[in-house]
Amino acid sequence: MIAQTVEDFDGLKEIGRICGAIRDELVSQTKAGVTTKELDELAERLFEEAGAESAPKSIYNFPGFTCISVNEEVAHGIPGDRVIQEGDIVNIDVSGSKNGYFADTGRSFVVGKGHGVLKTLCDVAREAFEAGLEKAWPGSYTSALGKAVNDTATENGLTVIKNLTGHGIGRSIHEKPDHIFNYFSKWDDVKMKEGMVIAFEPFISTKEKEVFESDDGWTLLTDESFVAQYEHTIIITKDGPVITTV
Ligand code: CO
Ligand code: CO
Repeated sequence: MIAQTVEDFDGLKEIGRICGAIRDELVSQTKAGVTTKELDELAERLFEEAGAESAPKSIYNFPGFTCISVNEEVAHGIPGDRVIQEGDIVNIDVSGSKNGYFADTGRSFVVGKGHGVLKTLCDVAREAFEAGLEKAWPGSYTSALGKAVNDTATENGLTVIKNLTGHGIGRSIHEKPDHIFNYFSKWDDVKMKEGMVIAFEPFISTKEKEVFESDDGWTLLTDESFVAQYEHTIIITKDGPVITTV
């Protein structure tokens, strides 16, 4: 969407704060021994307390309130009986709506002290996000964000996932622009406008460049890689990008 009014900004920021707070609470509760289902039940309660709805549940009938992906799972992991272990790389992705406004945010992190390479991977996903954010101004192109992400990965000896992308958001969970790639793409490129709302989510990989779908019809997997994502919803403004999912 293109945010134009004070109501738009306030509505986007309200659901952004809610999703950001749920993300942070789930991250802090992700400890060895907890199941992904227990974390998702916490999210269910927090959405309800905030008067907000889970987007995957309400829009896609996803079997969970949040997407929780562990190790070989990259995205859209279904909360269940899986028990979190020390050293796991976990991605928690929270998206929701309130009063017709949407937000989407996610983060990968290593449980406990973790493994050196996995910790680096998570740090680089965040760095890639920060590098892209510097390009997020009215008049610049979405491909500039993709280039910044790919450059950051390459500088660190890592790769990007090519078949997962960021996206427009605002009045629904997925809107135009359809794709914000993790690399420069001149074939699918959009000039960003003032008020444009996007979910920007670099996916950085240790090796493979594509994910594939699990037999469960939801979970996106890799064979031989680990992947980290870092996502916020941002509004493009003439004063710089506004992160709603703080
Ligand atoms: Co997300
Ligand atoms: Co997203």
